[in-house]
Amino acid sequence: MRPISRREALLLGGLGTAATVAGGAGLWWSLASTLQPVGGAAPAQGPELRSSAELRSTDGRLQLTLDAARGQAELGGRTARPLSYNATFPGPTLRLRPGDELAVRLVNHLDEPTNLHVHGLHVSPQGTGDNVFVAVPPGEGHDYSYRLPADHPPGVYWYHPHHHGMVADQIFAGLFGAIIVEDPEAIPVSRERVLLVSDTTLDNAGNIATVSPMGRMAGREGELLLLNGQSSPLLTARPGERERWRIINACAARFLRLRLAGQQLQLIGMDSGRSAVPEPVQELLLAPGNRADLLVTAAAGESVLQALPYDRGTMPGMMGQGPGPARGVLALAAFRVGGESTTPAGAVPARPAPEDLRNAAVAARRQLTLAMGAGSGGPGGGLGGMMRFTINGREFSDARTDTIVAAGTVEEWTLVNTSPMDHPFHLHVWPMQLLEDNGRSLDSVVMRDVVNVRANGHATVRIAFRDFTGRSVYHCHILDHEDLGMMGVIEVR
Ligand code: C2O
Ligand code: CU
Ligand code: CU
Repeated sequence: MRPISRREALLLGGLGTAATVAGGAGLWWSLASTLQPVGGAAPAQGPELRSSAELRSTDGRLQLTLDAARGQAELGGRTARPLSYNATFPGPTLRLRPGDELAVRLVNHLDEPTNLHVHGLHVSPQGTGDNVFVAVPPGEGHDYSYRLPADHPPGVYWYHPHHHGMVADQIFAGLFGAIIVEDPEAIPVSRERVLLVSDTTLDNAGNIATVSPMGRMAGREGELLLLNGQSSPLLTARPGERERWRIINACAARFLRLRLAGQQLQLIGMDSGRSAVPEPVQELLLAPGNRADLLVTAAAGESVLQALPYDRGTMPGMMGQGPGPARGVLALAAFRVGGESTTPAGAVPARPAPEDLRNAAVAARRQLTLAMGAGSGGPGGGLGGMMRFTINGREFSDARTDTIVAAGTVEEWTLVNTSPMDHPFHLHVWPMQLLEDNGRSLDSVVMRDVVNVRANGHATVRIAFRDFTGRSVYHCHILDHEDLGMMGVIEVR
């Protein structure tokens, strides 16, 4: 195959991945392998990575309005009509410190209800807090207020709508943004990048495409894979520079198996979990909703941030049929490192060892079974012919409380997946410590707020139900599955 130029590669990246993926998996592989290291300061050719505005708390408080509306934006080089917050795609990045108050006025200029969830933040689920039972009707607003505890874990979090039945549609259409909780002691880096990965599908007119019932059941994967709304943007650095990448998987259903060959990667955190020391990694798997906090030490040359194929299983009763269209290797970004070398950045400050819930007294053990089964279109379903998506045999109902937990206790939950498809399990408010993943015991403290439960697999977590009481939810973060019922209500009291 003729080697393709970077410009062609970028064009391909912008043309919708469906076509390239269908016949072109080999093309992307060859792209990655034909891109040769470039010396000196080569002129930029592709669109430079753009970033959303950053809003920072001052004197312990950040107050802002998020206006959700349909508007015009350029997505992956095409004129599109996504939904967005404050007419920016992604929404503004919110930077907070532990102990801060975040006050958000959400204004709904959509033609359907919406609301707001602060994914991963350890804040109260009650009242005007992280309360997903609030619905904000079209034309109205709602004042949210979240108080972060003084010992809130630093890291990367995000916000998105959570109105049951419309979550996947609204996120797929563009409603999301990043939240950063700053470290007590800054890590020396040359620059920090907030990288929101999303996918969507545009119709010919640039509207967000609707999804078929089959697409919902599988979990939709969009034809356009976007990084901050762009296809294959260009990131540049000088050799020796250390960058900090805050990567968020904001895709409705797509898993991101990321690779950046030729560069030195160190993972310093996933979700609210921190690595004690930076952990060298070759590859990262982010289920929908997961975030990575990554240090990249730049080495001269040009690398491609790739999303590799990940097999998340099949639909029950449909042998061999994978859920998503994306089966090839996709280019998410180009990372070009050239120019004069810089002196290495200073050491990463040591972090306090996290608490280990393996030593905690367990007050209750539970099993939560995630299942997909033939639907009858029965009560609560309302979708004749659709498959049922259940937790412990039941579809979501906000009128029911499924799990009651005593405040202040530690519980151990075994998450069982009886379906042939992965389900990334997410719990609001309280982070989970992963103890065992499909038979493999973990020997270090791994905190997650989204734990992928493999097809026909299981995982065990422990949760400390501290600091807050109230009703909240757990669900599959394949957001179509959540919308179809794979969600339960928890009350801590
Ligand atoms: Cu990212 Cu319940 O959500
Ligand atoms: Cu969440
Ligand atoms: Cu699922």
